[in-house]
Amino acid sequence: MPAKASKATPILLVAEEAWKEIAAGLSAPARRFAETHGFEGRSGKVLPVPDAEGRIEAVLFGTGKDSGLSENPFLAGKLPAELPGGRYRLEGVLARPDLVALAFRLGGYRFDRFKEIERPAASLELPKGVEAGMLDALADGVILGRDLINRPANDLGTGELAEAAKALAARHGAKLREITGDALLKKGFPLIHAVGRAAANPPRLVDIRWGDPADPAVTLVGKGVIFDTGGLNLKPDNSMLLMKKDMGGAATALAAASILMALKAKIRLRVLLPMVENAVAGNAFRPGDILRSRKGLTVEIGNTDAEGRLILADALALADEDKPDLLIDYATLTGAARVALGPDLPPFYTDDEALAGQIAAAGTRSSDPVWRLPLWKPYSSMIESKSADINNAGVGGFAGSVTAALFLKRFVTETKSYAHFDIYGWVPSAKPGRPEGGEPQAARLTADLVLSRFGRR
Ligand code: BES
Ligand code: MN
Ligand code: ZN
Repeated sequence: MPAKASKATPILLVAEEAWKEIAAGLSAPARRFAETHGFEGRSGKVLPVPDAEGRIEAVLFGTGKDSGLSENPFLAGKLPAELPGGRYRLEGVLARPDLVALAFRLGGYRFDRFKEIERPAASLELPKGVEAGMLDALADGVILGRDLINRPANDLGTGELAEAAKALAARHGAKLREITGDALLKKGFPLIHAVGRAAANPPRLVDIRWGDPADPAVTLVGKGVIFDTGGLNLKPDNSMLLMKKDMGGAATALAAASILMALKAKIRLRVLLPMVENAVAGNAFRPGDILRSRKGLTVEIGNTDAEGRLILADALALADEDKPDLLIDYATLTGAARVALGPDLPPFYTDDEALAGQIAAAGTRSSDPVWRLPLWKPYSSMIESKSADINNAGVGGFAGSVTAALFLKRFVTETKSYAHFDIYGWVPSAKPGRPEGGEPQAARLTADLVLSRFGRR
């Protein structure tokens, strides 16, 4: 076999200022081809250029003013979809080779469970300085999360979501306990039961445990609403369309858990996933109902569409009983979060200043951006109830993401380090490395945060 056939095709990162110099190093046909196509290193431009035989000599990848992809390593996510199938290697010095390689992997993702999608299988040689195990763990975790979110509710009910959790637990030797249907009432999860009881999909609580009991305890909680009709406060058609993604919090918790277990984080991990379908039936919970929660607080139902905070309340109360060293929840909790910050920048909430700083830093480091919003105590008055300890829906509809976070906070009283992420869980229009569809936002951030705080075994 000729040595050439086994060689990976080079991808040349071309910043505008460096184009002349790089062009001088190309063969004459390649250079002429690039000139004919007006290639000048414009950001995101992908151009395979031929040698004298018409074979691809190299791929030119414009990075604009961003040499080494230091500003936006995820730009490399554009490559796999635009390249012919084959093996590639990146040439040049990369500021963050780990993120570039990850973006390349994640940019090649398609949800192909129900449709064969033709795509060139472009793969990238491991850039220098990238740990293969880390790259695989991150990509596998995110892809698991994306697949779960993208699966529609007729394919992914509460049972199937629990199955996915079981498969992950089995892969890593984790223990899993599950409470299903009416057993939720007996075991003290009245809010999870109330929200989920009207659906043919029985409500569940999945509880995964992994790691050495002597290590610091990290608990991740994720909202697992496999479909949110709004309940009796039914959503209008447009608002309901995407509600298969309302288990995005659970998918994110599983994605983060997958990464942390694969990398053997030095923690004792617990994952709590309340799973329900917020459905309409004669036995559905109603506006005006007053329910007693696991924690003992009574909750008046102002709106059955504020169901996520109800199931999280019981799961968070359980998590809080353990007083973990770190407690994080993820939830596609409010439309208000998206109104405030848009779909790509989930807000997070915490009263722990040190944790807030660590989260912000981890988000930046891992290209998994988030923004802190305040747990503004005075707005607690918006979720007061005349007849119960608290109402699940704010009056007036102001600061909806803040009041939802304040609601959750009432159920976490013992744990010092607690953060809540109000994620969108979805990429509405494709960006490099982020194809349109489900996205477990803050999962990579969490892995970065936990690994830098607690290390690996
Ligand atoms: N799952 C929704 C929130 C949501 C809607 C997230 C659209 C992303 C996109 C949640 O259960 C919900 O319906 N929240 C209500 C709360 C309100 C009734 C207090 C909302 O945000 O309108
Ligand atoms: Mn809802
Ligand atoms: Zn919901």
